[in-house]
Amino acid sequence: MEEIKVVTIGGGSSYTPELVEGFINRYEELPIKELWLVDIPAGKEKLESVGALAKRMVEKAEVPIEIHLSYNRKEALENADFVTTQIRVGLLEARALDERIPLKYNVIGQETNGPGGLFKGLRTIPVILDICREMERLCPDAWLINFSNPAGMVTEAVLRYSNLTKTVGLCNVPIGMKMGVAEMLGVDSERVYIEFAGLNHMVFGTDVYLDGERITDLVLDKLSNGTGLTMKNIVDLGWQPEFIQALGILPCPYHRYYYQTSEMLEAELQEMNETGTRAEVVKELEGELFELYKDPDLATKPPQLDERGGAYYSDAACRLISSIYNDKGDIQPVNTRNNGAIKSLPYDSAVEVNCVITRSGPKPISVCDLPVAVRGLVQQIKSFERVASEAAVTGNYNQALLAMTINPLVHSDSIAKQMLDEMLEAHQDYLPQFYSTELSLN
Ligand code: G6P
Repeated sequence: MEEIKVVTIGGGSSYTPELVEGFINRYEELPIKELWLVDIPAGKEKLESVGALAKRMVEKAEVPIEIHLSYNRKEALENADFVTTQIRVGLLEARALDERIPLKYNVIGQETNGPGGLFKGLRTIPVILDICREMERLCPDAWLINFSNPAGMVTEAVLRYSNLTKTVGLCNVPIGMKMGVAEMLGVDSERVYIEFAGLNHMVFGTDVYLDGERITDLVLDKLSNGTGLTMKNIVDLGWQPEFIQALGILPCPYHRYYYQTSEMLEAELQEMNETGTRAEVVKELEGELFELYKDPDLATKPPQLDERGGAYYSDAACRLISSIYNDKGDIQPVNTRNNGAIKSLPYDSAVEVNCVITRSGPKPISVCDLPVAVRGLVQQIKSFERVASEAAVTGNYNQALLAMTINPLVHSDSIAKQMLDEMLEAHQDYLPQFYSTELSLN
């Protein structure tokens, strides 16, 4: 790998300047020659605007990264070394439906959890699997680094239903938690090490170290005393101190949906009435960002991007790509095949766990097992992800209903069915597998 070619599918995303900034900052250790930003023709305006900003950014930074814009995925994929995917099938309008429809039934309406997460998976997985098939032909040695949500379910589907072996799922939650702990302690984040284990958006910090010394109890004390760990897209309602003490490990911000379901539901309903759902808020923010991106004098990432939940995502992505390229052998939390790292989860399933990152990929570090108190929930989410990814591939109605009903945020099979029917209809245009007689097994 001498001249690195990176292809970013969904390149017109408002997050792309983050990624470009990350590549610029690491140019010395990761000399990318070509960065291809690929999008669908309907995203032309966004891609052109983000692409022009990316060009200004590399020019200003004086790094010789060539920025290519393309609407032809196959042309872009040819001989790629790394392919990153950050797609949103159905755009933010589909996310708003994923959030609003469940709320009508008093069920959490969230991008990656509950019914919303299920539908995001049903829309996204077939497209990602198409990309995998194209990669097998056009760039068989390339790594697929997926950030498209629900990243855990997508990684599960890629491991189960594609022939790609060089694949990693990535999320900013672990790095966000590490930054949050560093802030809580008032120390540089480089001094903090968290042992991560679980699933995407269902990951726990099973132990925390400062300069190599175990400080888990101190962090749990701070968390119990109201020093929250959260992210821009998730409301912080604090935790019951006794619960956190008894849990004994660090929950991630998304655990609030499972351990504070009724309060989070209330908060979502209130938010929907006051400002609109998160997708609607983000849509406005995106509008502002794209206005800024048009400014020909703008040649750096605007600070407004920090208002999005995906803070640090480019750090996670660029660090991972650099460690694979440079065979660094450092430790990073990623989504990969379990291989026994977490005993109570299937050997061949995707887990989010600390791994040693080498040129031949992530090597999961065993944590033995998760505490009994959380093991069941994590296994249940894994079952949900597996059933949901099968539904995404087959377009089987009953399988989709099964996934919806076994999700821990859904409490009734009849409400599950009503939500499923309403959401299938609302997302019909993006779910051909459920509407083509050839594919559907139902
Ligand atoms: C977090 C999650 C991402 C998610 C994002 C949503 O960062 O880890 O997976 O996409 O939040 O943020 P948004 O600003 O779109 O609500």
